[in-house]
Amino acid sequence: MNHYFTDNDNLRSKLRTVLYSYQNHKFSFYTDIGVFSKAKIDEGSKTLVETYFIHGRKNIKVLDAGCGYGFVGITLTKIMNCDVDFIDISKRAVHLCKMNLKENKVTGNVLISNVYENVKDKYDLIIVNPPIKAGKQVYLSFINEAFNHLNDDGELWFVMRTNHGVKTVYKNLTKTYKAEILEKNRGFYVVFCKNQLTH
Ligand SMILES: C[S@@+](CC[C@H](N)C(=O)[O-])C[C@H]1O[C@@H](n2cnc3c(N)ncnc32)[C@H](O)[C@@H]1O
Repeated sequence: MNHYFTDNDNLRSKLRTVLYSYQNHKFSFYTDIGVFSKAKIDEGSKTLVETYFIHGRKNIKVLDAGCGYGFVGITLTKIMNCDVDFIDISKRAVHLCKMNLKENKVTGNVLISNVYENVKDKYDLIIVNPPIKAGKQVYLSFINEAFNHLNDDGELWFVMRTNHGVKTVYKNLTKTYKAEILEKNRGFYVVFCKNQLTH
C-alpha cells in the first residue's frame, strides 16, 4: 500500500477544497488524492494551531515542517503575522501548498525536503504534526533534529496522540529541554519545547 507521503506523482488527481475559519479569518485549501487529511482539516493540526493562536508568539520566522497542503503555516502567516517557510517530502503536497498560499493571499517559501535535509536557515519556531505513518525514525527526526535549525531561543511545537507515544517522547525531551504540555484534546497533546538557557 502506498502511504500519503510516498511518491505520489503517478496517482490520479481529484482536487477538492476544504474550509477552515477561526474568529473572523476564513481559509480555503485545495487538497488531492494522496495527501494527508484530504477530506477535512486534521483534528490534531487544528488543536496545534488553535493552541498556538492563544499562547504563541507573533511576527516571527517559522518553519512548517511536513507542511502537507499548508494548513498550519498558512494560518500562522495570516493570524499571527509570521514569516513562514514550508517543507515536505511529497511533491504533490508541495504543489498544493503553493496553490494554497495564492488561494489565501499570503506568501511563503515552499521546498521539497526529506525531514530537514534541504533546510539552510534558522528559525524562531518549528511547528510540526509529525508523520507517524512514516515510521519512528522519521517522526522522531522531526522532533530531535529540530534544535539544529532553531535560533538559541527558538521553540519547537508539535502535536501527537497518546496512542502514538507522546508521553514517552515528552518525557525524553524534558531530560534535555524545557518542555511543557500546553493542551490536551481528545488524545492529542500539544507539546512546547525550547532550550534551557543558562543565563
Ligand atoms: C501528519 S502530516 C501533517 C501535514 C500538515 N502539516 C497538516 O497539518 O495537515 C505529515 C506530513 O509529513 C510529510 N512527510 C512524511 N515523511 C516525510 C519526510 N521524510 N520528510 C518530510 N516530510 C515528510 C507528509 O507528506 C505529510 O504531509
